Amino acid sequence: MKDFRKLLSQMTIEEKIGQLTQYNANLFIQSDADITGPMADLGLTKNDLKNVGSVLNFKNAKEVYEIQKKHLEKAPHQIPMVFMMDVIHGYRTIFPIPLALGCSFDMDLVEELSRMAAKEAAAGGIQVTFTPMVDYVRDARWGRVMETCGEDVLLNSRMGAAQVKAFQNGDIKQPDSVATCVKHFAAYGGAEAGRDYNTVEISEHALREYYLPAYKACIDAGVDMLMPSFNTLNGVPSIANEWLMQDVLRKEWGFDGVVISDYNAVGELLQHGVAENLKDAAKLAFKNGCHIEMCSSGYIQHLKELIEESIFTQAQLDEAVLKVLQFKDKLGLFEDPYHGMIPENEEATCLTVEHRALARKGAAECAVLLKNDGILPLSKEVKKVALIGPLADEHEIIGFWACRGRNEESITVAEGICKMIPDAEIMVVKGCGNRFDDCDTSGFAEAVEAAKQADVVILCLGEPQKYAGEGNSRTDICLPGVQTELALAVAKANENTVAVTFSGRPLAIPKLDAAIPAILHMWMPGTEGGNAVADLLFGDVNPSGKLSMSFPKAVGQCPIYYNHMNTGRPKSPAKESRHVGYCSNYIDCGNLPLYSFGHGLSYSEFVYEDLCLSSDEFQAGEKITVSISVRNNSDRDGKETVMLYMRDMVASNARPVQQLIDFKKIEIKAGEIQIVTFEVDETMLRFWNNRNEWVSESGLFQISTGYADHLILTKNLYLK
Ligand code: GLC
Repeated sequence: MKDFRKLLSQMTIEEKIGQLTQYNANLFIQSDADITGPMADLGLTKNDLKNVGSVLNFKNAKEVYEIQKKHLEKAPHQIPMVFMMDVIHGYRTIFPIPLALGCSFDMDLVEELSRMAAKEAAAGGIQVTFTPMVDYVRDARWGRVMETCGEDVLLNSRMGAAQVKAFQNGDIKQPDSVATCVKHFAAYGGAEAGRDYNTVEISEHALREYYLPAYKACIDAGVDMLMPSFNTLNGVPSIANEWLMQDVLRKEWGFDGVVISDYNAVGELLQHGVAENLKDAAKLAFKNGCHIEMCSSGYIQHLKELIEESIFTQAQLDEAVLKVLQFKDKLGLFEDPYHGMIPENEEATCLTVEHRALARKGAAECAVLLKNDGILPLSKEVKKVALIGPLADEHEIIGFWACRGRNEESITVAEGICKMIPDAEIMVVKGCGNRFDDCDTSGFAEAVEAAKQADVVILCLGEPQKYAGEGNSRTDICLPGVQTELALAVAKANENTVAVTFSGRPLAIPKLDAAIPAILHMWMPGTEGGNAVADLLFGDVNPSGKLSMSFPKAVGQCPIYYNHMNTGRPKSPAKESRHVGYCSNYIDCGNLPLYSFGHGLSYSEFVYEDLCLSSDEFQAGEKITVSISVRNNSDRDGKETVMLYMRDMVASNARPVQQLIDFKKIEIKAGEIQIVTFEVDETMLRFWNNRNEWVSESGLFQISTGYADHLILTKNLYLK
């Protein structure tokens, strides 16, 4: 690591503060004379810009090269800028949204896809990605559930760590490595009513057990940066939250990486009402350890005054600047400001045959077969197929946060199906739209007619990709428009109907579930979505995805999740369909989700035959081996995620009815048995008690396999 003391001694205070700022690329592209628009809005001068230390939201590698080159021609100390962007599920070759990635339960796949994203992103000039997003979620109304890995702590933690490892690849100096930034710290996914940017009020117990662990897992995996969240957490916006940013992040967890604000999050402290003006906001953010201010100008406009007024010392300023300089040095930018990027190489690195093949594999692995009455897989000998619905021939299936991905480069379902069965007659009928106000049913007649003529109907339904993602929360999570009505009309015309659904969140589709023999959920599958649909429907790929987030029966059930408390009046499947007074069931809906976390079918039949414990009692410091034998009782090779759950039957805190403590995805050949083993130790049984300690308590635990509301085998285990 370089010694920056000499450099710091030579820098003016304006040059130092410039290292603590980040602005959009467009400010650096426009002509020097043009200080209107964003620059003026930010109160920036031309002089400010030449000191700025980092850039986000640039177009491509060429633009990065030009900005860096122009900057270094005038930079007094040759301090390179650092270039950052959101590579959430691919750079140009887009793979499934992270909520879908979680459904793969396959960390090797996540690493493989993230490595591909890193190579493409690095070729595109990106040196840091604002990834992984590991916000824990329970409410499908929130638009950003698409960015996270769902309602389980362990899954979010492992997914986050896998992304950090794959993007950074051991050395962020390497030309095909990208530094990572874990976000949004903390508990952004707990926004009240699933409304984006809304208030978050969560007990420390819930924070510790559910909302915080995945961030810590990323820090333990070596993440270089962290981004605080927009929301208030128990009354105080994260970026100004001393308990969160100092007591937990720095003192307790020892995080010593760079902290970057979210977009104008410093400026938003005024709207939150915790800062009187931008100077006050800058003071709060800097005091709580924010090193880089993204797209607001509190630091550039007021940090110098705050130092002159002795609110902060030069030493504190130097400490923050040193952190940023050291990060740039870790990226190797002082040796090579372009991080090995050659603009001409970008196109050749992206969207290659290999990358498309990997995206196709990923899209198939992340899909979840929600229902199958036996109609799937379809025969490739089928003669007439009706492909019906607003997403039958739609390129917009790559999802929100698709970085440099282009809709027009995606494979539609129609294209995928036509390639799969070239000799079949395929009728493509849209039937209706899929936006909220698409209530026109005039296309139904043509759709029903096509269904009547077809051997098989494939319905392609779902949300538009813009209905999830940042700022895209919904008060309902049904299929928008009249898609359900279209599906019912088509299913009536031809019972050989399957539905393929697309969304950035769980959908409430009870009527579809009741009427359609098979439902395959693709989430937003990315560039190769159409080919993956064909691979799955016609059996070239055996579905293996398991839900990373529960699908409610109705939006009124939100938030709904598998690891809930039992309560004094537990839900009762027996009462699910009718209301018996004074029970916890809604009078108009049961308590069970339509599909639970962990649900997902295969074309194989997996039989869980035995669950054995190496001992039925143990104590802290000892390990128990759990072995589970699973048979593939079919003639088709398949993959199965074997999950291990535990339940603490009695403790000083009420404990969740289930908690995933491990999982392994295995391949089982047709007719074969596999034995999966896990190790359980006392630390896996701990919880955050009401004295704010991580503890386990002796007593009875149940160790189970299966998933959520559908446990298959259970054994008792005593912790002495
Ligand atoms: C956005 C998002 C954040 C993203 C940042 C930069 O507002 O909240 O996730 O990394 O701005 O694009």
